[in-house]
Amino acid sequence: MAFSQSFLDELIARNDITDVVSGYVNLTKKGGNFFGLCPFHNEKTGSFSVSPDKQIYHCFGCKKGGGVINFVMEMENFSFPEAVEFLAKRVNLPLPEQGKGSDDSLRRRILALNRDAARFFYETLQTPEGAAVEKYLETRKISLKTAVNFGLGAAQDKWDALLQAMTRKGYAKSELLSAGLVVQGKNGNLYDKFRNRLIFPVIDNRGDVVAFGGRIISKDDPGAKYMNSPETVVYSKRRVLYGLNLAKKSKRGNIILCEGNIDVVMLHQAGFDNAVASMGTALTQEQTRLLSRCTKELILCYDNDDAGKIATQKALAILQDSEFNVKVLQLPKRFVDGEYVKQDADDFIKYQGREAFERLLSGSADGMDFRMEQVAARFDLSDDKQKVEYAAAVSELIATLSNAVEREVYTARAAALCSVTPQALALDVQRARKRLFTKADRMQRRADLNPIAQVQPKLRTVRYDNVRSAMAEEGVIRLLTLDESLFGEVETLSSSEFSCQLLGRVFDALLSQKNDGHISVPLLARELSGEEMSHVSQLLQKPESAANAHRALRDYITLIKEEAQKRSGAGYDPLAAAVEKYKSKKGHGGK
Ligand code: GTP
Ligand code: MN
Repeated sequence: MAFSQSFLDELIARNDITDVVSGYVNLTKKGGNFFGLCPFHNEKTGSFSVSPDKQIYHCFGCKKGGGVINFVMEMENFSFPEAVEFLAKRVNLPLPEQGKGSDDSLRRRILALNRDAARFFYETLQTPEGAAVEKYLETRKISLKTAVNFGLGAAQDKWDALLQAMTRKGYAKSELLSAGLVVQGKNGNLYDKFRNRLIFPVIDNRGDVVAFGGRIISKDDPGAKYMNSPETVVYSKRRVLYGLNLAKKSKRGNIILCEGNIDVVMLHQAGFDNAVASMGTALTQEQTRLLSRCTKELILCYDNDDAGKIATQKALAILQDSEFNVKVLQLPKRFVDGEYVKQDADDFIKYQGREAFERLLSGSADGMDFRMEQVAARFDLSDDKQKVEYAAAVSELIATLSNAVEREVYTARAAALCSVTPQALALDVQRARKRLFTKADRMQRRADLNPIAQVQPKLRTVRYDNVRSAMAEEGVIRLLTLDESLFGEVETLSSSEFSCQLLGRVFDALLSQKNDGHISVPLLARELSGEEMSHVSQLLQKPESAANAHRALRDYITLIKEEAQKRSGAGYDPLAAAVEKYKSKKGHGGK
């Protein structure tokens, strides 16, 4: 849908960010800004701020931020057009007539392309070209009915089967590239990303095919076991769960979270149509929000190995203090040839059957029980010295519970295990709880104050290769949003001179906004992803003085041009640049 800038301007003007956020968060005024508890992460003290002047929000804790459109996108799990519709309805603003050739058209083209690609893979499965994949499905005991239910498909053992078929259907090469379905080789030639693989279309909540997963069908295939679509305009892996499109319709009251695509498919086949998987990544906050729309009970069913246990612990940490009732289903290991081997849900169903899985489900312990067991397993409780160590460790764990009754229950249970009185252990828990709070405060304060840590963006996807230039680029963006009269100064500056591609894109977007009328930070949501928008809202938090703005801007521009010059040739010393880059990484790099 095409939304004109004037329509979006009006939409943003009528939906004051403070009003909209107040619908979700209790805000209190401090100075010119409002503060409250962040709705995107769990916290006890408010680090979430709303600036009515800039019409943006920013959380100093989780670093999320953006304008009013981003806020409802984040909060309600909406796409950009969904968020616009929502806000328009909120203030009774009529939506413009649906036009053609909008900025949303790429999104729609890619969704159409994905749908056609999924159909092509699916149809290939029924032809001789799909025979190898069909055979693989048989060996995995995946029935035709299940394959149809999930729309599974086959990617041929050819370089360009999909490329040819989709080009014939009228899709441009650029669209195939944007969808992540084809890849460009070193020589510039395009070829299919998925070849000779079993294809799992990934379908989002609204029923759109947003991505694909592809699994090798032979042990001898040297490629990665799974290949997944990259992030695209329609796909953010943090926001999708494989199988949720089906699981949300399940009549079972809960959702089973497992690790693999095959686990999901097999569980559904066995009648557990409430299984989903997060496709090889740790559970995210965004995914829990999707889940919370369809259930209040989650069952974690990760693999019974170290990686699975770590994944379980990470998921429990994310789900701590959430509304969910969380249970952990521990899959037993299987005894084969004199040793115990791990099983995933698929193995378990295959070897033990669906009734056994049903029994496991009804007996799965809740998350705290799992963690209590994990802690107890680390100590030999027949040894007095180890009992003391256990008491210390378990009180740290119990201290993390926010509910006092729960703390009491678990304290009593742990006290019995290490034969001390519950009262004695309760004191330990109390002390651990105090430490926890001061530690959380301290970490927060340190994070807020540490300038070095703030130099590198918090986003994984953005890093500053040239910190000196990037700081100046940030400055340019800050100044332009502060004072529109400064646009005259930046005529000589081009985004190609920016060292950070994202900041270059922001610069271009601001220029084009200015061309069309006036600039609006919340409107950047049109061009930027939520993460990118968070980055922008973060850099806008840094102080910049409007006094001397012209002079400061000229200095920034000079510096950016200097650095660009260094990169592009004249007097450019690659060795020195490499050293520079290494130093900047070393100084401010990841942990
Ligand atoms: P099977 O081995 O066929 O039973 O697959 P599985 O679905 O049980 O997968 P596994 O437990 O090994 O991995 C869990 C999930 O992680 C998979 O479904 C994939 O989404 C993802 N994954 C596994 N291996 C890879 C890999 O090599 N690359 C990527 N990108 N993802 C992977
Ligand atoms: Mn498996």
